[in-house]
Amino acid sequence: MALKKIILHVNALDKISSINPEIYGHFSEHLGRCIYDGIYVGEKSSIPNIRGIRTDIVQALKKIKVPVLRWPGGCFADEYHWKDGIGEKNSRKKMINTNWGGVTEDNSFGTHEFFDLCEQVGCEPYLAGNLGSGTVRELAEWIEYITFDGISPMADLRRKNGREKPWKLKYLGIGNENWGCGGSMRPEYYADEYRRYQTFCKNFSGNELFKIACGPNSNDYYWTEVMMKNVNQWHTRGISLHHYTLPTGDWNKKGSARNFSIPEYYETIFKTLYMEELITRHGEIMNRYDPQHNVGLIVDEWGCWYDVEEGTNPGFLYQQNTMRVAIVAACNLNIFNNHSDRVVMANLAQAVNALQALILTEGEKMVLTPTYHVFDLYKSHQGAKALYCYVDNQIIGDGTEIPMISASASVKDDKMTITLANCSVSDEAEIDISVFGFEAKSAEAHILTGECHALNNFDYPQKVMPEAFDVNPSDRGVFVVIPPCSVVSIILS
Ligand code: AHR
Repeated sequence: MALKKIILHVNALDKISSINPEIYGHFSEHLGRCIYDGIYVGEKSSIPNIRGIRTDIVQALKKIKVPVLRWPGGCFADEYHWKDGIGEKNSRKKMINTNWGGVTEDNSFGTHEFFDLCEQVGCEPYLAGNLGSGTVRELAEWIEYITFDGISPMADLRRKNGREKPWKLKYLGIGNENWGCGGSMRPEYYADEYRRYQTFCKNFSGNELFKIACGPNSNDYYWTEVMMKNVNQWHTRGISLHHYTLPTGDWNKKGSARNFSIPEYYETIFKTLYMEELITRHGEIMNRYDPQHNVGLIVDEWGCWYDVEEGTNPGFLYQQNTMRVAIVAACNLNIFNNHSDRVVMANLAQAVNALQALILTEGEKMVLTPTYHVFDLYKSHQGAKALYCYVDNQIIGDGTEIPMISASASVKDDKMTITLANCSVSDEAEIDISVFGFEAKSAEAHILTGECHALNNFDYPQKVMPEAFDVNPSDRGVFVVIPPCSVVSIILS
């Protein structure tokens, strides 16, 4: 093992912007075992639950301070008809989940259950509305059902279904991936549809919607250009961006989540760092139309997408989660923090049992993945001011070259949080962190580390766990030596 020297400068006097807590957001789709047999087990389950929602999952999500949860999709959203998911469960309409395995969706988890989940977790709900196969009236009535306080057909229906007071709803996505599963639309056509749909989504009873237009797929800069030209001025507060880390770049052969070579590891990190370029280039287009940054970039689907685990339903997107993807999570979150002047929300895909999950379940067992622990280590960035950081980096890799260290820093309530990922699988990093404009008297640090294939499973649920890590602050900053493949969070106060 070699030791590589790195210098990191953090300037506490150079604040980029506030890190919206929503950057640490999540996504739960009616896909595979994310909702059913995941978050929602039903009231009759022997697994401890409150009104059908798993208690251990709620507790785990609360611990990492999940700020916002996106639902019901994904591709599912543009086939979802919300009225099928309210009222007596036995009489709810069943449908085919055509996107995800062709299974029967019984609609037992609907609007009331989702808002109940958000209330239990203490997070903001983020609804993805159906523009692809729904109607303007249907979406308008959903908003009325959820947010209207007075007498109206939809508010009365909500009361009849047991909810007297309206809920608060801030985040509303008008469609999902309307360039693909949400209707295969051209950006010009979608922009007109967006304008029509958003017109009828009203602010009722003091509720104020934050409307989000469907944005680009990865590097589709033309889509962003058309959106900014045509929807920018139509009450749009956000434009979404979807980008998955697909190690092979081939949707038909994505590779295994747990069996991979070292060159494949570096390829994965290289591909994930592309997020920086995407945000910068989409941001440049947005800057031309919106120099005031009134419209936020909402990275509402990100994470690693691999082949499903052997023997599982290919439509359920169930994959394991190793230290490799913990590094992916850490790098992405650092990028979002460093671009928090434009990125106002991000939602990892997905919360439970799908894609780069935070949590895996099997019957009553629950495993917190390495990705979960990264969110735990990073949670003190939420609501803090992002600080300018400069890394004098080393270049590493095997086949693909990447910078060794990913970093971000923020300050809140006289505490500075510095988060680091050592992306090398073989070398330690000796990092001399010089902090300017902040006097640190004490330091507390935690580390998540392991061989890049290390993971938590149902037999060994605690193989990869955060641990306390010794660091010593000096009058110049702090000096650390961090092992290969590790994520570290340092709090100076
Ligand atoms: O997260 C899985 C799917 O990926 C979502 O349903 C869709 O929006 C995206 O293509």
